[in-house]
Amino acid sequence: MRFAIQDSKRLADRLRWDDLDLSGFEERPLDNDALRCLLYMHDVEFHTACYLRDLLVSPAHVDPDLTSFLSIWAYEELWHGEAIAAVLAAHGESSGGGRVHAMRTNLGAADRIRPLVMLGGSWLAGDNLVALQMAWGAINEMTTQAGYALLGAKAANPLLSTLLKRIMVQEGRHLDFYASQADMRLARSAKARRLTRNALRWLWSPVGSKVMPSDETDFLTSYLFSDAQGIAATRRIDRRIDRLPGLDGLNLASRWFERLS
Ligand SMILES: [Fe+2]
Ligand SMILES: [Fe+2]
Repeated sequence: MRFAIQDSKRLADRLRWDDLDLSGFEERPLDNDALRCLLYMHDVEFHTACYLRDLLVSPAHVDPDLTSFLSIWAYEELWHGEAIAAVLAAHGESSGGGRVHAMRTNLGAADRIRPLVMLGGSWLAGDNLVALQMAWGAINEMTTQAGYALLGAKAANPLLSTLLKRIMVQEGRHLDFYASQADMRLARSAKARRLTRNALRWLWSPVGSKVMPSDETDFLTSYLFSDAQGIAATRRIDRRIDRLPGLDGLNLASRWFERLS
C-alpha cells in the first residue's frame, strides 16, 4: 500500500501533552532503568536534525515529496524529544538544549565527515542511495516504535504509557512513509536492491548507536529486547523487513539483539 505525501501532510502535527499532569511522576516515579532508556531516546530524537543534514546531501533533496516528508518528520521528532525532556525534567534529570549541545560537541570527527561520506555515496550510487536511505529509515522507525511499546510495558506507568502511545502513532506514520518509498524504489531497480541488501547486511546497527556510547546502546537493546516480548517484537521487525523487495532473510534485528543475549 502506498502511503502518500498527502497523508503525511494531512496528519502532520506536533505532539501534545498539555492535558497530561506530569507532576503525577512525583507520586509514581519511573525507575532508573526506564529513565536510562528515556535519556537515550531523548538524545536520539533530538539528533534527528543531524540525521536530516546527512540525508539531504543525497539526491533525496531533489524529490519534493521526500523533502516535504523529511520536513514533517524532523518537526515531529523534535517534539518527541521535547515530550521526553519534560518527563526527564519531572524526575530532576538533565534534558533539553544543554544536554543536546554537550552531546553534539563530543561527537568528534566521525560525525563531522558523515555528510562527506553521504556525498561520496551519492556520486557513486546516485538515486539508488535514496532507496537505501528509505529502507534504513523504515527499519529505524520499526525498532523505535517497538522500543517505545516495550518500554511502556516494562515501566507499567499509566502516565508514561499514555505519552508513549501518542509518540508511537506518529512513529507508525513515519514508518509507513519510509516503507512505502523503500518498497517502490527497491521494486524498480536491481542495483538498488543489491546496494541496500549489502549495506544493511554489513553496516546496519540500531538507531543512535553511532552517536551514543556503546554501553548505552547495549543497555537499551538488552533491557528492552532480550525477554520473550522483546524477542517476539524483534521477529516481527524482521518479518516486516522481509516484505521489502530484495531484503528477505536478512534477520537484521534478530542478529543484532541476539548478539547481546
Ligand atoms: Fe520519534
Ligand atoms: Fe519517527
